[in-house]
Amino acid sequence: MSQNFKLYSQYYDLLYRDKDYAAETDYLISLLDKYHSKGNKIIELGSGTGKHANLLAEKGYQILGIEQSPEMVEIANQNKKEGVIFQVADITDFRSNTSFDIALSLFHVISYLTNNDNLIKTFKNVHQSLNIDGLFIFDVWHSAAVNFQIPEKRTKILRNQNIEVTRIANPVIYAELNVVEVNYDITVNELKDGTIHSFKEQHPMRHFSRPEIEILAYATGFEFVHTEAFLTKESPSIHTWGVSYILKKI
Ligand SMILES: C[S@@+](CC[C@H](N)C(=O)[O-])C[C@H]1O[C@@H](n2cnc3c(N)ncnc32)[C@H](O)[C@@H]1O
Repeated sequence: MSQNFKLYSQYYDLLYRDKDYAAETDYLISLLDKYHSKGNKIIELGSGTGKHANLLAEKGYQILGIEQSPEMVEIANQNKKEGVIFQVADITDFRSNTSFDIALSLFHVISYLTNNDNLIKTFKNVHQSLNIDGLFIFDVWHSAAVNFQIPEKRTKILRNQNIEVTRIANPVIYAELNVVEVNYDITVNELKDGTIHSFKEQHPMRHFSRPEIEILAYATGFEFVHTEAFLTKESPSIHTWGVSYILKKI
């Protein structure tokens, strides 16, 4: 099992504290309404620290979140709302005895599946766990944007009352594989006593084009319903890094 997110998990919510999970949840609900989703049982793949799951639970959904990082699940369990369960499992080989109305995979989780074998296994698992007509909604890195914008070294610094975290992201591009290996160098400064510690994590990310997702959907028993820019609902373009896909189990 991958070790990424083992240490990163401790700083995840701080690094993404400006991410508007509430607006994203409203956006997801708008998609569920638009594409006539029925039922309130959701399976979420790669549920992380549980932010979407808790917000969806407040809107009346029941959620099973599956997440490979025990550290992320431990954090998620600390703030868990009623109607939410988190389980440590790999989305490429999970089995569920229950069936669900909706499958979600948010904030580029599917992009973490860099080879075709794992993608096909995951899509088949989702298919098996959904009811007929169940929707599978996910967002991924968009090839057109990655190839146009070209990932480069970036630094992000965030601080709370206890720590300052500096994250340097160094991308290595594997153009023939549609993969960008994002190498994170993370330095944590404890503000109380000035202690500094550092660690590295590697996050290989795959980007996708619409025809790839169409063929993946077709091969695993889904109807391709729609694609659009995540959150803004615009047509995907070279300017759209994160793109949503909506598939339906047939
Ligand atoms: C960028 S985070 C997104 C977390 C959460 N969905 C959110 O929106 O904050 C990606 C998550 O996917 C999880 N993940 C990646 N590959 C996975 C796999 N094969 N099985 C289960 N979880 C996986 C990671 O551990 C991490 O928590």
